[in-house]
Amino acid sequence: MSEFVEIFEVGPRDGLQNEPGLIATEDKINLVNQLSTAGFTRIEIASFVSPKWVPQMADSGEVLQGITRHEGKRYAALTPNMRGYERALAAKADEIAVFASASEGFSQANLNTDIAGSFERFAPILDAARHIDLPVRGYVSCVAECPYDGAVAPEQVAQVAEKLFAMGCYEISLGDTIGRASPDQIAKMLLAVREVVPASRLAGHFHDTSTRALDNVDCALSLGVRVFDAAVGGLGGCPFAPGAAGNLATEALNDHLLRLGYETGVDPAELSKAADLARSMRSQGAKTERD
Ligand code: HMG
Ligand code: MG
Repeated sequence: MSEFVEIFEVGPRDGLQNEPGLIATEDKINLVNQLSTAGFTRIEIASFVSPKWVPQMADSGEVLQGITRHEGKRYAALTPNMRGYERALAAKADEIAVFASASEGFSQANLNTDIAGSFERFAPILDAARHIDLPVRGYVSCVAECPYDGAVAPEQVAQVAEKLFAMGCYEISLGDTIGRASPDQIAKMLLAVREVVPASRLAGHFHDTSTRALDNVDCALSLGVRVFDAAVGGLGGCPFAPGAAGNLATEALNDHLLRLGYETGVDPAELSKAADLARSMRSQGAKTERD
């Protein structure tokens, strides 16, 4: 039997958060439902951040309330602070994620606080989530390059990853936020992170600005990583990381993994329908912005 590699679909959150034009809540819900049909078991669909900072995610509660839920699937939400945690609970998110940065410059731009300050906000979230057995994922952004600070040392990434893991995050997703990392940088970073967090608890989150995301996936596969984040239709970027292009497109990743002989549990035909939906939402957004 072939080995399983999981694709954690982040398009409805990491993809759509960056779309400038207003996208109807109903369209977001349809996209999530189609992704469920395609076979993903974890889908990030919401972000309970400040609606002033990220207006596109302001209807996250309605999206979580409006989707058709499936047994065994988890619908995830970002929570930057306790306010976000409470909103996520009210909307019945199945899992949440805290997001830290390995570089000070990006932490400040993204969260309006330094790395230490971000951990002060995450600590009560992890405490509260532990009491109700709510799974918490941890992101580390800028694992190789930061748009503000330049190259990021692997040891810095390892320190932040170790801390998130020690606080109770069940999985650490390593973000090449601006998609400029080379496989060599990813390898050095992973070798450092694997010293403090087992590879079985790591995920790769590679944006595709330099079209090297699949090379970085191959590198991470060779070092034992078996979970990868991707966004349907290659949607995305980050509003606070200038130059960040879309995420690795889920359909490209799925094809690539199947070609390598892995199982993903994702149906390419249903995924292709989701990618069509995602692309039409992108052009809708662009149209609304122009209008
Ligand atoms: P702040 O200004 O330092 O916080 O922002 P504050 O506590 O002073 O609050 C400011 C205002 O925000 C107040 O409203 C609060 O009520 C409100 P006002 O009085 O001005 O009307 N507020 C909230 N509203 C709703 N929900 C909340 C919330 N918290 C405060 N949870 C804050 C701090 C974290 C809120 C802000 O910096 C923020 O929203 N940042 C989010 C940035 C973001 O969403 N970035 C994109 C996601 S991360 C990413 O994409 C990277 C990733 O994909 C991995 C990778 O690629 O590397 C995960
Ligand atoms: Mg991202």
